[in-house]
Amino acid sequence: MKKNSALFPFVLSNFAMTADGKIAFARGNYTPFSSARDRRHMLELRATADAVMTGARTAEPAGVRLGTGPAKYRRARLARGLNECHLRVIVSGAGSVDPRADVFKHRVSPIIILTSARAPRKKLEALRAVADEVKVFGKNEIAFPAALRWLRRKWNVRRLVCEGGGELHDALLRSGLVHELHLTICPVIFGGRLAPTIADGHGFPRLSRASQFRLALFKRFGNEIFTIWRRRA
Ligand SMILES: NC(=O)c1ccc[n+]([C@@H]2O[C@H](COP(=O)([O-])OP(=O)(O)OC[C@H]3O[C@@H](n4cnc5c(N)ncnc54)[C@H](OP(=O)(O)O)[C@@H]3O)[C@@H](O)[C@H]2O)c1
Repeated sequence: MKKNSALFPFVLSNFAMTADGKIAFARGNYTPFSSARDRRHMLELRATADAVMTGARTAEPAGVRLGTGPAKYRRARLARGLNECHLRVIVSGAGSVDPRADVFKHRVSPIIILTSARAPRKKLEALRAVADEVKVFGKNEIAFPAALRWLRRKWNVRRLVCEGGGELHDALLRSGLVHELHLTICPVIFGGRLAPTIADGHGFPRLSRASQFRLALFKRFGNEIFTIWRRRA
């Protein structure tokens, strides 16, 4: 689906993935498994973006702030003419994201929650108390084209990094809104059919409908492979 680039942000997604295609263990909190170099890559990408977006389950764990990291990244942002810190966008269709999560305690930049009409009023009230804006798009799933257009128009988001998880990323891919994919392949196997991947959720029904990318960069650093994929026109 072709989208008018003046109306939508440029969307890139960034994941560390095991050699068997998993982004986390099936159960339990997220355990970082990629190298320091990969974590620097994540901060470097954030330093180019107006907003970082995650799903509710990725935003909730203790210690997650979705911030800029060390001061040099804030300086890089200012040198690029960006705000000192990117916006933080959390997607929670049922409004289930925990308002007591650490991410809400660190007031480094505005937090926007994208939700849907199925979120109960009480949950929305609790989220409105901790977030800077809570906006409803769509009945059950977030209507991402409308949500991203709104982020561009209202919050001037021109470049957005999606940092997962798999459920959110699947929905963005299905909306045809992901332009570029940064994938770091790490030398470890998690296994397990329930462990999340970069695109869970509904998926595509067949090859002719699948999201298609071309390999734009491929580099080995130590035991990891850093790749960039660009969406095929
Ligand atoms: N290795 C990596 O690079 C990496 C990156 C990111 C995350 N992770 C890990 O992956 C795991 C989380 O991934 P996940 O797929 O389970 O969860 P997720 O995508 O982070 O969050 C899922 C939640 O987000 C909301 N959501 C997502 N898509 C939606 C849509 N289209 N419409 C409405 N709401 C939507 C829903 O919230 P509601 O329930 O409120 O509806 C859903 O329950 C964690 O362990 C995390 O640490 C790893």
